[in-house]
Amino acid sequence: MTNKPEARARLNQALKKPLPWISLGTTPTPGRPLPQLGRELGLSQLWLKDDGQSSDLYGGNKVRKLEFLFARTFERRRERVMTFGALGSHHCLATAAFGQKIGLGVDLYLYPQPLSHHVLNNLLLDHSFGANMIHVAHVGLLPIQASLGALRRGNHRGAKEIIPPGGSDPLGTMGYVEAALELHEQIRAGLCPKPDYIYVAAGTCGTAAGLALGLLLAGLDTKVIAVQVVESIITNTLILNSLARLTIRRLRRHGLKLKDQAPPNLILKKGHLGKGYGHPTEEGIAALAQMDAAEKIKLEPTYTSKTLAGLKDFVKSHGLEDRCHMFWNTVSTVDFSERLKTLKPSDLPRGFHQDFIALDRF
Ligand SMILES: Cc1ncc(COP(=O)(O)O)c(C=O)c1O
Repeated sequence: MTNKPEARARLNQALKKPLPWISLGTTPTPGRPLPQLGRELGLSQLWLKDDGQSSDLYGGNKVRKLEFLFARTFERRRERVMTFGALGSHHCLATAAFGQKIGLGVDLYLYPQPLSHHVLNNLLLDHSFGANMIHVAHVGLLPIQASLGALRRGNHRGAKEIIPPGGSDPLGTMGYVEAALELHEQIRAGLCPKPDYIYVAAGTCGTAAGLALGLLLAGLDTKVIAVQVVESIITNTLILNSLARLTIRRLRRHGLKLKDQAPPNLILKKGHLGKGYGHPTEEGIAALAQMDAAEKIKLEPTYTSKTLAGLKDFVKSHGLEDRCHMFWNTVSTVDFSERLKTLKPSDLPRGFHQDFIALDRF
């Protein structure tokens, strides 16, 4: 059985100077076949890589990024971080959960998105993990409000570490470079086949970009299909490739020989965003229901259901039924139902109540 230290050791061995890293998650995450769904879609091989199980505290794709980003926070001797996201942001929730666990103060700047019970639950959890939540009335106000927040020290000593949205800067992206190396170890150990295509949701692009780079480093010819789930102003080919190239430059500075070019194995798949970020699509909801019925795996409407819809569409439109496909789950599988029973919307900080009034009318 392969393990996380092996994948990280491979990355660090290759680097002249190791990258900052602390352990937060429980990896390697499992890979397993999805036989029933594969049959229904007419695929010869369909596999799952389940990053939903990347931690018992809170899983999903943010854990691996925070392992690098929080290590940098400690290196800089900072005691507080600030980060940003939509009201139901998984990145903000993961930052709150792991920040509390390792003793960092966390400021979350949260702006509106379509409301749902999933969004509501994530807000309640942010609060229960002790985050300082700041309500931003419109995403356009974020730069000014966050800049003022960064300057304001209040009771907090020292400068705050700024964690980028989605944890997607070149350092956070290393989490997924390493994830691809972990997959390579699992393939070498015979635990899963080499996929021809990996499908993953793309928002701030770090997950898809990191995977593509890690696959190149591992010498695998697998392609990453990054399914766009956020508006084109944030998720586009330019940003995807720019982040990949900035990450390549960081790896090159650490002594790795990767060509400074857009990764040829990284493809942005459009057409599944629907009305916008957080708005469910018909194809996504159908994909979610199909996954649940076939494999008893719960997807959610914003990221993973659209990714599965993207997989179905990509395979069909390119006639790739005979190839090996891997669906990369990025949403946490940790069950918070007991914890949520103890949390009340009325406990939420000022500014968030308006959102709940709207939600009650659902
Ligand atoms: C569950 C989930 N999947 C996928 C993504 C997209 O990852 P990235 O922002 O690295 O593109 C996110 C980002 O917030 C997410 O929360």
